[in-house]
Amino acid sequence: MDTKEILKKMTLDDKIYHLVQMTTMTYLKADGTDIVTGPNSTMKLDKEYIYDVGTLLNLVGAQTMIDAQTNFLNHSKKKIPPIFMQDVIHGHRTLYPVNLGIAASFDRQLAHDVAKMAAYEASLDGVSVAFAPMVDLVRDPRWGRVMESSGEDPYLNSEMAYATVKGFQGDMGPHNVAACVKHYAAYGAAEAGRDYNTVDMSERTLRQFYLPPYKGAVDAGVKMVMTAFNIVDGVPCSANKHLIKEILREEWGFNGVVISDYSAYEEMRDHGYCADRKECAYLAMDATSDIEMMSPCYANHLKELVSEGKITEEQIDKAVLRILDLKNDLGVLDNPYRSVNLEESKRVQVGPEHRAIARYAAEQSAVLLKNDGILPLSKDIKSVAVIGPNANTGAIHGNWPCGGKIEETITVLEGVKNIVGDRVSYAKGCNIEYDSTDESMIDEAVELASRVDAVILCLGEHQDYSGEGDSRTYIDIPDVQYKLLDKILEVNKNTAVALLAGRPLTISRLDEKAPAILDMWMPGTEGGNACANLIFGNAVPSGKITMTFPRVLGQVPIYYNAYMTGRPKLEEDDFNRVRFTSSYLDMANSPLYPFGYGLSYTDFEYSDFKLSADTMQRGDVLTASVKVKNTGKYKAKEVVQLYIRDLVGSVVRPVKELKGWEKIELDIGEEKEVKFEINEEMLKFWTKDMKFEAENGTFDVFIGKNSACHKFASFELK
Ligand code: GLC
Repeated sequence: MDTKEILKKMTLDDKIYHLVQMTTMTYLKADGTDIVTGPNSTMKLDKEYIYDVGTLLNLVGAQTMIDAQTNFLNHSKKKIPPIFMQDVIHGHRTLYPVNLGIAASFDRQLAHDVAKMAAYEASLDGVSVAFAPMVDLVRDPRWGRVMESSGEDPYLNSEMAYATVKGFQGDMGPHNVAACVKHYAAYGAAEAGRDYNTVDMSERTLRQFYLPPYKGAVDAGVKMVMTAFNIVDGVPCSANKHLIKEILREEWGFNGVVISDYSAYEEMRDHGYCADRKECAYLAMDATSDIEMMSPCYANHLKELVSEGKITEEQIDKAVLRILDLKNDLGVLDNPYRSVNLEESKRVQVGPEHRAIARYAAEQSAVLLKNDGILPLSKDIKSVAVIGPNANTGAIHGNWPCGGKIEETITVLEGVKNIVGDRVSYAKGCNIEYDSTDESMIDEAVELASRVDAVILCLGEHQDYSGEGDSRTYIDIPDVQYKLLDKILEVNKNTAVALLAGRPLTISRLDEKAPAILDMWMPGTEGGNACANLIFGNAVPSGKITMTFPRVLGQVPIYYNAYMTGRPKLEEDDFNRVRFTSSYLDMANSPLYPFGYGLSYTDFEYSDFKLSADTMQRGDVLTASVKVKNTGKYKAKEVVQLYIRDLVGSVVRPVKELKGWEKIELDIGEEKEVKFEINEEMLKFWTKDMKFEAENGTFDVFIGKNSACHKFASFELK
């Protein structure tokens, strides 16, 4: 379709309303009486144009899309089909682990494949755009949306962003969807981990740490970008011209659609950045933001701004054309119903093939945090009890469940039953609520625990405790869960904890007490089967955390790629009091578990560390290599990690930075050599003059199984 020809036939009103996004629920009445919900009711849209908005937000199922699209087009004047956008965050109906889990798999192909699966399911329900990947870098586990993120490292987040966009978009075929990277930018840096709170950082920090993941999505050809609720350098992202026009569009060459977050334009009044909705409309359009999600600034004020000469119709034309071109890319202008297919969606969604993908993803994402040897349990065990507030609930499928249904989720109890049959028994033990003090169920659970060979104790968070608006000031497991654990350990030491939560928790006490801890994150629709497979050794844990676990909340923010400071505390003094160093009177500096940490049922021996040269001329490529041997009793995977430290820079540089990784599988006794290429590009950073380049000097090289590894060589860049 010739989108410019379509644009020519649109009036200014048509164009303005094409920039408005409404909820799908508005269009479910065939008689055209729209269901005006939520902010819709305050939007005071011109009824004449409510059936000519450009895009729709959130829907549930193929039939809903068919009904809404039919009703919309029956009442629309211009008959330009809207496209449907959905929060397909970690699956559409078959849910895979929350993204902090997928990142822990350190598996780019997996990130790609689960997004591809989600796109297939979403396209069958008529979805055109997924509001994903969320790639916000995070350093504060008080922020509930860390569960959607890939964690604290810019390189890993960029790689996962790239892979996920490619998975969603593929070749933009009928069973792909357009991806929408979010939340641009630095939403994860909300002060105190309090959602929507102030973000304030230097341009250098922004560019060095927080922008690369969005750039990774843009490099993958992402079709849309969603701006964030927060300010950056005092300006709300919704109308941040430096971020949107100067960096995203002019510097990175992105010419796709930019959409606001939910009612974020009009919230610029609350920020104290705009006096009224008219100014919101002016500043957002001036920043080249295209779609207004669920607020009426554009609809109610753009026409006036054009008549006053403050906004030109050409500016509006550019925004409309970007949306029409996206619709064209999706084939919607030729076929408004795109790939919706009720029968196929029933066959595919939560079908065996997709469940297998989700199960594999949950197995690869899980992180073994501790194991004193009780795991894996024997499949021939005579009796096992699954106990705890997360033992028998489908809510473990996670926050942002999209079309996922709790009743379709395999619980841990069901997963264990699928392996040991009627040798399993269950007790709840306590409630999941973070403020629950009800101890009335503990005795029954303890009595059961005293009669079985092993206990799988399912602790952690409710699905709604990590997500949007779910900031917390206390991020340990609740005392009642510790009471349950203590009493069970008194009668049965053969107890493994399955931790089901969306974020890093300050579980120092759990680490001291529990013989084994398997972090499943919020593992999705097949979480129970994956957990059971890992507990009983049908699968071997291989995940590595991508966000630091603090010992206590008082250490937050705590992350591995920090600066040395002028008074570093020596590692060997970590638990000693050393005044006048950058340290605490009452706590070590080190985290409970460092970035990149995760155990296996087997052991891996690293040897024969090599660096091909100790000097690098510009344009050279060095090779760092190591041999890794499986010295244990299980065939297993290991994530071999490469870190580099730039010792001296025109600005200070992190103590180490992840620059590569390889996930390898080794049979029992097998040894492999892993090689990494080190090139000049990897050494670049935002220098004192704000140029992105590498500076001559000495670099330390680290290879290891997590970020606490030590350097084995250095080289000189000349
Ligand atoms: C929410 C979220 C955003 C989501 C959007 C639409 O407020 O911040 O991630 O895509 O609204 O649901």
